[in-house]
Amino acid sequence: MKLRSVRGTHDLYAEDIEKHNLIKNTVSKKAELNSFNKLETPIFEFSELFAKPLGEQSDVVLKEMYSFKDRNDEMLTLRPEYTTPMIRAAITNNLLNELPLKVFGLGPMFRRERPQKGRYRQFNQINFEIFGTKDFMADLELIIIGNDILKSILPNSKFILNLNTLGQKNNLYEYKTKLSKYFIDNKEKLSEDSREKIQTNPLRILDSKNDIDIKISNNAPTIHEFISTDEKNHFLDIKKALDHLNIKYIENDKLVRGLDYYCSTVFEFKTTELGSQDTLLGGGRYDGLIGVLGGPDIPGVGWAAGIERISMLMKPIEDGLNKVHLAITDKKYNSHIQILMNYLRKNNISFYWNYKYNIKKSLSKANSNKIKYVIIIGEDEFNNKYYSVRNLITGNQSKLKDNEIKKYIND
Ligand code: HAM
Repeated sequence: MKLRSVRGTHDLYAEDIEKHNLIKNTVSKKAELNSFNKLETPIFEFSELFAKPLGEQSDVVLKEMYSFKDRNDEMLTLRPEYTTPMIRAAITNNLLNELPLKVFGLGPMFRRERPQKGRYRQFNQINFEIFGTKDFMADLELIIIGNDILKSILPNSKFILNLNTLGQKNNLYEYKTKLSKYFIDNKEKLSEDSREKIQTNPLRILDSKNDIDIKISNNAPTIHEFISTDEKNHFLDIKKALDHLNIKYIENDKLVRGLDYYCSTVFEFKTTELGSQDTLLGGGRYDGLIGVLGGPDIPGVGWAAGIERISMLMKPIEDGLNKVHLAITDKKYNSHIQILMNYLRKNNISFYWNYKYNIKKSLSKANSNKIKYVIIIGEDEFNNKYYSVRNLITGNQSKLKDNEIKKYIND
């Protein structure tokens, strides 16, 4: 058997793992700052949790879920997204007694999509949700947190917020009926993919990437005729606040999102730097969903972002600058290196030693790893109980006692 990984999955190591860690650390700090508590759920759930909320006719449910029968004949599914498991967990653990509930989570999701750049079958998401308020400030807060996280991880990338409103579920229902009629009248011109969606999911035709579909969609009725004054005001409040905060956005009335549970505000942060998989972060309101899943009839809003997509835009991480390499000329001096290693551990100074007794090789390894400091132990260092610390950037070398090392490398 030829050993290989499953299509659409990837192993993480070296720089990728550092990038993922940096993203996760930033997210955890921002979550704490904004008082979101972590909520972790299992990677699989009963299949019935997903089918109805995500939409029986959505691509995810129709083609992409990894579902299997357990030994006791129960159908289980590897979670394709995090919102429904989070709601399930909030209900089953009685977390909805005190509202609003603000939660976040990080972890792997699974969708059997066609793999391509930025699209995988196992990928990692960051997820933020607020359960229990209809206040536009919750939508706003989530957009700001998303913007903040992306800006601090990707200070040099360009991404832009796209915004739309879908109105309440009944508005959306009326709109879908009108949209289906419009697309039936133009059926002959539509792509085959879009034709299949006319009855089942006409909204998705609006975000088709086919040129002719786009032309036809440009003349389609828009949701705005169907939206109530309350919903219009909710949307207006968000836009006014974003203007006030100087957060740029595009109003995009073709933005419908891929999952069925959305209504009211929807948003995506998009980039031009990733090709066709251009959405870094997407989300919106799902008022009604918590009730559908068996919880109280309370509103909800949230977003998820793809860690792999964010990491693809990150600049290389300059590792090593804080790290120290150790170099020793002979086994005879091992006791001296043991004292040093203990000192470094105690003082949280990250170090590396390859168990080789060859200064030349150790220095060349440190150079190729772009390490700033090498601590050298030879006969004189051993006999006179000191360490030679070399700065590989300046070439300077100093004789130091162990308790002088921390200050020296931190200066
Ligand atoms: P989504 O748009 O399906 O929304 O996914 C959110 C983000 O996950 C995407 O913008 C993308 O960055 C990333 N992503 C999705 N699929 C893949 C894939 N196959 N490979 C790599 N990255 C991917 C949701 O999942 C909703 N649950 C978001 C939400 C939370 N809405 C409300 N609350």
